[in-house]
Amino acid sequence: MTTRTNAIEAAGLRKSYGGLQVLAGVDLTVPEGTVYALLGPNGAGKTTTVRILTTLLDADAGAARVAGYGIRRDAARVRASIGVTGQFSAVDELLTGRENPRLMAGLAHLDRRRARAVVGHLLERFGLADAAGRRAGANSGGMRRRLDLAMTLVAAPRLIFLDEPTTGLAPRSRRDLWGNVRELVADGVTVFLTTQYLEEADQLADRIGVLDGGRLVAESTAAELKRLVPGATSS
Ligand SMILES: Nc1ncnc2c1ncn2[C@@H]1O[C@H](COP(=O)(O)OP(=O)(O)OP(=O)(O)O)[C@@H](O)[C@H]1O
Ligand SMILES: [Mg+2]
Repeated sequence: MTTRTNAIEAAGLRKSYGGLQVLAGVDLTVPEGTVYALLGPNGAGKTTTVRILTTLLDADAGAARVAGYGIRRDAARVRASIGVTGQFSAVDELLTGRENPRLMAGLAHLDRRRARAVVGHLLERFGLADAAGRRAGANSGGMRRRLDLAMTLVAAPRLIFLDEPTTGLAPRSRRDLWGNVRELVADGVTVFLTTQYLEEADQLADRIGVLDGGRLVAESTAAELKRLVPGATSS
């Protein structure tokens, strides 16, 4: 048996808002260097799960280790070890394509020289070099999403969370972003993403968890899922 370190281990996560139970006991394991897709419709609890795992929200019950640290006991270490691209953009529309990630570099305490080098490299890599001097608000939705991802990567996290990275994007922009995610995976970064699209999960993920009624009702590879859900296709 091979032993692999897990980037994420969660057991029995529960969360209710008032009388509304959103998570009713979620268990999941994500080995380092793999991509896990949490698939579910609007309101399934995807963002709630991401917010708990990234220490932005306390679960009512359950436990999780993320990047080797307990989300309650070692929240600051968890946060220092991960990158998070939220469902809604963190891009400041009044700042330029370059100023946005430079702000993140400042927050990550990179010195000026290093910040300039890292941000220049990321803008290049994400096809944003031409947009570097423009206000981010002038960019297309796809460019903004790529800028979001570039900002997440400034501190070079080895584990990133992407909450619905391509919802609302045109097919071309969606494919561009998938390419960016694949490059990260090739570099060995672990990715936990949420999506409403089986196709996206199929394209990117090693394992897919289907969230419904507050529980993972299925967890498998895309190929297995397509057998389980008759009529579900990847295109
Ligand atoms: N702060 C909150 N207070 C009350 N209810 C909330 C709160 N946050 C989320 N909810 C509710 O919890 C449920 C799950 O929300 P969540 O945002 O986790 O779903 P989601 O799977 O991310 O959905 P979407 O695909 O629309 O982003 C929804 O019914 C939502 O209205
Ligand atoms: Mg959400």
